[in-house]
Amino acid sequence: MSALPVATTVAQLRARIAVERRNGARIGLVPTMGALHEGHLSLVHETQKRADKVVVSIFVNPTQFAPHEDFDRYPRTLDADAAKLAAVGGTDLIFAPSVGEMYPQGFATKIEVGGPSQGLETDFRPHFFGGVATVVAKLLLAAMPDIATFGEKDYQQLLVVRRLAADLGLATEIFGAPIIRESDGLAMSSRNAYLKPDERRIAGQLNVVLKRVIAALHNGEPIPAAEAEGKRALLECGFASVDYVAVRDAATLSPLDSLHHSARVLAAAKVGNTRLIDNMAV
Ligand code: PAF
Repeated sequence: MSALPVATTVAQLRARIAVERRNGARIGLVPTMGALHEGHLSLVHETQKRADKVVVSIFVNPTQFAPHEDFDRYPRTLDADAAKLAAVGGTDLIFAPSVGEMYPQGFATKIEVGGPSQGLETDFRPHFFGGVATVVAKLLLAAMPDIATFGEKDYQQLLVVRRLAADLGLATEIFGAPIIRESDGLAMSSRNAYLKPDERRIAGQLNVVLKRVIAALHNGEPIPAAEAEGKRALLECGFASVDYVAVRDAATLSPLDSLHHSARVLAAAKVGNTRLIDNMAV
C-alpha cells in the first residue's frame, strides 16, 4: 500500500488533473470534511464506478459552522483518512487545502442558493447552506470534475448542490449516493464519534422512528399527524430535542398536502449535544 499523493494548493490540484485530462481521463470528485468512515468510502467506490480518476477533497470548511457550533472540535484526522483511502483503493489524489488557500485574505464572496435550501436545516442552521454552496462552488471550479458525488444522508445539501450546479451552468454531473448505515440502521456520520454509549443506543432509534412514520403514512395517516407522532416518538426514545420530522416533496422539498408526489421524510434531532440528521424515501 503506497501513500496517496496530496495536493494542498489549487494550483497543484489543477496541474495534476490537467495531466490526467490530457490522457483522456474522466475525473470524479468526492468532497468531504475528513474523519472518513464507511459512508465516505462508499462515495469513493460509487465515484470510481463512474470516473477514471478520483479526487477526494478533505477540508473542514469554517464558513458552514456557526460560532456556537463544533468547528473547533470537529475531528481532523488527515493521516488516518489518507491511510484509509489508500487501504481501500480507488482514490488517486487527495486535495487537502488550508483555510488560507480556500479563503485568502480579503475573501468576500458568498453563494446563496434559494429553492431547496429554504426551511428544514436553514430554520436551525441559517448560515449552513451559504457556507456549503460557497465551498462546493470553489471545489468544483478548482477541480472542474466530470462528476461529483454527495451522500443522500445530507439530502437537503444534495438538492442544494444540484441547484447550484444547474444555476451556475457548471459542467459537473452531481451524483447522489445512497446512505450507508450501521447494523442497527444508524446513518453513518462523522459526528457519531461524539456519541457516548448510552447516546449511541438512543441514536439508533432515529431510523426506526422514520420507518414507523413511513408505515403510518402508508396506512393512511395524514402527513401532519405522522410528523407529530414521529417527533413525539423521538422524544420518548430519549432524544433531547427534535428540530423537525418533515414529509416533503423529494425533488423540491416543498411541503406536501398528501402523498401523491414522490415523498421523502427528513428528520433532525439532538442526542445529548450531538445533532443527528437522517432521511428516507417514503
Ligand atoms: O457534506 C460534507 O461533508 C460537507 O458539507 C461538504 C459537502 C464537504 C462541504 O464542506
